[in-house]
Amino acid sequence: MKLVAATGNAHKLREIREILSEFDILSAAEAGYSSDVEETGSTFLENALLKAHAAANATGMSAIADDSGLCVEALGGKPGVYSARYSGGGDAENRALLLKNLEGETNRRAYFVCAIALVTPDGRELCAEGRTYGVITEECRGKGGFGYDPLFLSDDLGKTFAEAGEEEKNAVSHRGRALHALKQKL
Ligand code: IMP
Repeated sequence: MKLVAATGNAHKLREIREILSEFDILSAAEAGYSSDVEETGSTFLENALLKAHAAANATGMSAIADDSGLCVEALGGKPGVYSARYSGGGDAENRALLLKNLEGETNRRAYFVCAIALVTPDGRELCAEGRTYGVITEECRGKGGFGYDPLFLSDDLGKTFAEAGEEEKNAVSHRGRALHALKQKL
């Protein structure tokens, strides 16, 4: 079965291909599709569905899309679906704002969440979610990963996602867990 992955992110594409290895996963570019959908949903799943439906409509193939972010307990679940746009700047500015908003806060519990949607050309939907838990550190640790990885001390790994190797992170990550859950349903 052929699936289009509606993402321009090479890291996500690699992980999708690795976990859904029985499927022939085409990148958006390989399917002749430019994945530029506005993420107007109020939940991760709504955004994943928006992206997957758009790609399935445009390509006439089954499409898979994800949406993910960081939810911090003391901030009422923020930055949540706004994780990428939290500060209006890039990853470094987002991390700086998160640290500022948690100044003096003792409850630093947080989780990453990832929603995955698979949509067929006739509009059928299959969805899954994955989470991974940890705490937000007081300062950045590690050089790997992206986004909030240097600030996320994983409960499972006992180090930040930026200190972990890619395989190590994928084994416990929200995206890995969502993809495995989707694979079960498939
Ligand atoms: P999106 O799913 O590509 O829209 O990602 C949303 C944002 O959430 C990213 O820009 C990151 O800031 C954050 N994020 C999602 N997954 C991760 C992760 O595995 N590590 C670090 N940050 C992440």
